[in-house]
Amino acid sequence: MLEKHQKLERNSLAFTVMILIVASIGGLVEIAPLFTIENTVEKVEGMRPYTPLEQVGRDIYIREGCYACHSQMIRTLRSDVERYGHFSLAAESMYDHPFQWGSKRTGPDLARIGGKYSDAWHVAHLKAPREVVEGSVMPGYAFLAETTVDTQKLPYVLRALSRVGVPYTETQIKDAARDLARQADAEAEDEDVLTERYGDKVNIRDFDGDPKRVTEMDALVAYLQVLGTLVDTKTLKSGDLVR
Ligand code: HEC
Repeated sequence: MLEKHQKLERNSLAFTVMILIVASIGGLVEIAPLFTIENTVEKVEGMRPYTPLEQVGRDIYIREGCYACHSQMIRTLRSDVERYGHFSLAAESMYDHPFQWGSKRTGPDLARIGGKYSDAWHVAHLKAPREVVEGSVMPGYAFLAETTVDTQKLPYVLRALSRVGVPYTETQIKDAARDLARQADAEAEDEDVLTERYGDKVNIRDFDGDPKRVTEMDALVAYLQVLGTLVDTKTLKSGDLVR
């Protein structure tokens, strides 16, 4: 046996072929079973795609590099759970492309920031962090309140997301810009349209204190306020928490 192996080791081509065969058996054993299950992410009740306004806010979050200082993934560690709440579930980032788990926490985790503060708090904090939290090293983003949201690309953004599996319907894609305006306008008369399309857990109001137009501040705050609020972690059964 050893002698045969010696011969094999001297023939580099045959040896390479054998290594490839052995490695692919290992690969098959690991990968093939995954194809027999429908999804590796367990569905959890309450998850829905982001509304257009939230999605724009998410894109601003990425554009401004908030992820460089903030994670969005509460680990199962006791220290994390005590500080931030229920640990993050895989399903909670199932519509995130790309996900925002992050790898650095200069500031706190934001996975469950939704509802923790008022909109006014967020606006004041984003404009001038040190006026709200003494000694904060977070930069200010006052310009967001001056910048009207550009909705031109919005349908393309939703279309692209739907291609990678986010279940936006044709109507949601076509009507994205109007849905965005509907969500940011507290006076909107056709709010029902939005809740019909995106469910009850949509915050419909003017977020930045400037009802005349929809600014990037509206979008970012709408995004922050929905984070971690879609899944009701209090009613989760232990079977829901496997992955
Ligand atoms: C240079 C690092 C840095 C960047 C970039 C940054 N932050 Fe922060 N952030 C912090 C720090 C530090 C704190 C904690 C002190 C404070 O509250 O200001 C914080 C706090 C926060 C809080 C309050 C969290 C809580 O639970 O009290 C929110 C919300 C927040 N940041 C959002 C953002 C958003 C949105 C962006 C991008 C537009 C951003 N941050 C960019 C460092 C950063």
